[in-house]
Amino acid sequence: MTILLTGGAGYIGSHVLFACLAAGHEVVVLDDFSNSSPAAVSRVRELAGGVVTLYRGDVRDGKLLADIFAGHAITAAMHFAGKKAVNESVADPLDYYGVNVGGGMSLMRAMAAAGVFRLVFSSTASVYGERVEMPLTETSPLGEPANPYGRSKMMVERVLTDLCRADPRWSVGVLRYFNPAGAHPSGRIGEDPLGPPSNLIPYAAQVAVGRRPQLLVFGNDYPTPDGTGVRDYIHVMDLAQGHLAALGYLKERTGHHVWNLGTGRGYSVLEVIRGIERVTGQPLPWAVAPRRAGDIAQYWADPSLAGKDLGWRATRGLDDILADHLRWQQQNREGYAG
Ligand code: UFG
Repeated sequence: MTILLTGGAGYIGSHVLFACLAAGHEVVVLDDFSNSSPAAVSRVRELAGGVVTLYRGDVRDGKLLADIFAGHAITAAMHFAGKKAVNESVADPLDYYGVNVGGGMSLMRAMAAAGVFRLVFSSTASVYGERVEMPLTETSPLGEPANPYGRSKMMVERVLTDLCRADPRWSVGVLRYFNPAGAHPSGRIGEDPLGPPSNLIPYAAQVAVGRRPQLLVFGNDYPTPDGTGVRDYIHVMDLAQGHLAALGYLKERTGHHVWNLGTGRGYSVLEVIRGIERVTGQPLPWAVAPRRAGDIAQYWADPSLAGKDLGWRATRGLDDILADHLRWQQQNREGYAG
């Protein structure tokens, strides 16, 4: 089938693009390259072969979307286009709501007009807010996301719920990502953040290759086993397979469906540091710094619903995530620009 990937040149989008092509689907990518590179698409083409049509543009451009749907026999869309820097979202909420909520709604409108009702949406575990009981299941009540980024994802989730109630033709899969990291094992595609990374594994990988002097550990006084934050890191290749599995499920059903994509296992910041040292055989320079505003002590997924419904589970562990992330960073010290 032909699948539209908005944001298909970005970190997660490019890995899903790989998975779609490897599975024999045709893909149309729409990306504005504001935080991604056309090189990601050409590298995926080299890795997977297959048919990709690339459009440069903004997902809020309704005319462009209408032209794309008119020009291709698209049967489903996966929506990755959006902004994801937590700090930026606090500083510029209008931009975040405009792009993330406005972009999501623009896509939904264009899909409905084109008669395409199958959509997979990238959401985040941030929608659960700060909860005490672990693990997080899809039936855990939604909390208060700590920032406009998380709130923008929650708002799109709500719009999708209402849309499915209003029109039974919709078939929507909301995927709540835990902490994606890692890269395609070739080292050809990976995460290439603009400026200093804000996420742990990308930052630590840049320290490991000598691009940054040291990692700051944001707080060692959390109520966790070693005092540092605990997260459920999921390999981006596993995450990509989860998208294909969701698409397969939606082919047979309509309605609104939600799945956690995580491993079910949390690791602390210090465990990640030790993992990197294990993989590289080198000490990783780090120091303790104060807690980062808005951070939560710990969370991890109960991924069993995705197992039951989709037959999906993460197959790669922390060392695979770190080895693959580091390979990408070593082979592309300066990212796609390097
Ligand atoms: N951390 C450090 N040092 C760093 C970066 C992170 O110690 O330089 C710690 C954090 O305090 C946290 C853990 O590493 O305990 C993970 O932090 P990340 O920034 O990698 O990820 P978060 O769990 O904070 O999640 C953030 C956003 C989510 C978003 C996710 C993926 O809060 O909304 O990144 O982009 F979904």
